[in-house]
Amino acid sequence: MIRLDARFFPADLRAAATSSLPDAATALEAVRQGECTGGEFTGWFDWPRRHGFALASEVKQYVQELGLFYDTVVVVGIGGSYLGCRAVAEALSHSYATALSRGAKNPLRPLIVYAGHNLSEAGLVELLDLLGERQPLINVISKSGTTTEPAVAFRVLREYMEQRFGKAEASRRIVATTDGKKGALRQLAADSGYKTFVVPDDVGGRFSVLTAVGLVPLALGGFDIEALMHGADEMFRSFDGEQASSHQVLEYACLRKAAFDAGKRIDLLAYSEPRLASLVEWWKQLFGESEGKHGLGMFPAGLNYTTDLHSLGQYVQDGCRNLVQTFLSIGQVSAPVPQGPTQVERRLRVPHAAVNDDDLGYLEGRFISEINQAAMLGTKVAHSDGGVPCLELQVRELNERTLGGLFAFFETACAVSALLLGVNPFDQPGVEAYKKNLFALLGKPGFEELGGELRRRL
Ligand code: PA5
Repeated sequence: MIRLDARFFPADLRAAATSSLPDAATALEAVRQGECTGGEFTGWFDWPRRHGFALASEVKQYVQELGLFYDTVVVVGIGGSYLGCRAVAEALSHSYATALSRGAKNPLRPLIVYAGHNLSEAGLVELLDLLGERQPLINVISKSGTTTEPAVAFRVLREYMEQRFGKAEASRRIVATTDGKKGALRQLAADSGYKTFVVPDDVGGRFSVLTAVGLVPLALGGFDIEALMHGADEMFRSFDGEQASSHQVLEYACLRKAAFDAGKRIDLLAYSEPRLASLVEWWKQLFGESEGKHGLGMFPAGLNYTTDLHSLGQYVQDGCRNLVQTFLSIGQVSAPVPQGPTQVERRLRVPHAAVNDDDLGYLEGRFISEINQAAMLGTKVAHSDGGVPCLELQVRELNERTLGGLFAFFETACAVSALLLGVNPFDQPGVEAYKKNLFALLGKPGFEELGGELRRRL
């Protein structure tokens, strides 16, 4: 499933990690029982077995019975409300899908695009340009139902949809995923007659990819959400029984903790397939929001190799030695076809040239991925020699099933890791500070006093 290779982690840190394994096993058990700090938000653990498969069937049925044509799904959400979907969609989609599907007959897989994850006015204008040429369906996702970025984007998009399609059809083309009872989005959806899905009370945003938050847009986009669930289920089941106490998920958490205790402050996740960029964004949010509190936690950062070896690689090799690095290595990545899943393997070798004028004769006939893999191995040894403790997480191939496994692995590792640090993995008090200031500066009723104080300071 997923293999952790710690051979390039210093022996003293490995020994420290081994000695904290019993604490990690206790933390895992507390998560399982919902008895850890923040235990009321552990509904994501073992989710597939408890609710996930039933939900996946419900979501599939909704998509099958939609009865309208769409070629573009707009996911409106921020943080945990969009990153999981984007991680899967970008990992498994053709990089040039927009350009390639134009004019193609009957493309099987709709395009997924994103809004409400920033406040770029120009970005929204461009999105409206795109929608003008497509048949859109909107999935607005907000657990709280009150987050400014998606709320603003959705107001713009709702107006666009109602003007273009009329209120009745616009309502059929909008699906909302939010709290079951409260929040502005819940009320708006009820008033407008939108189909709704629920974000469970006991699952926080960054742990919600396997709930309707991720499943609805991914199913609308033509991805195999059952395979995603099976992959996660397989991982969660591997934490059952005796084997749990020595599971590599605990080893990963303990190695990170040992690195933190030894003064490492930046945790790099390096990937060598650009299509993994959004998966790493998802990982950054997961660890950053879960651990970064009370002056603790390593700062999670992503590195896109080999591209970044020609920029940040210098720093990793030779800069301040407060880094630790994990290589996320995928055994086999086949280029997706634009229309969706296929059995055809598409690979590329370095071609034969009659004259060896570029000095690449020694690479002739070798797969490009082989060269990529050699670059990763060489980098791991070099960075380790340069004093950066290195781990490798190996996944055999890239598909919905393995991504489901990775989600379950990282969520569990993150919860255990945060508990080992002594912080609540499931709250994010720091995010509230900026939200309040934004409300105050924009004159939201109830925030007048703070608004006055901020204007004086600015
Ligand atoms: O992990 C979290 O809870 C947050 O990052 C949220 O996902 C993010 O702030 C979006 O919140 P909401 O879904 O309530 O709009």
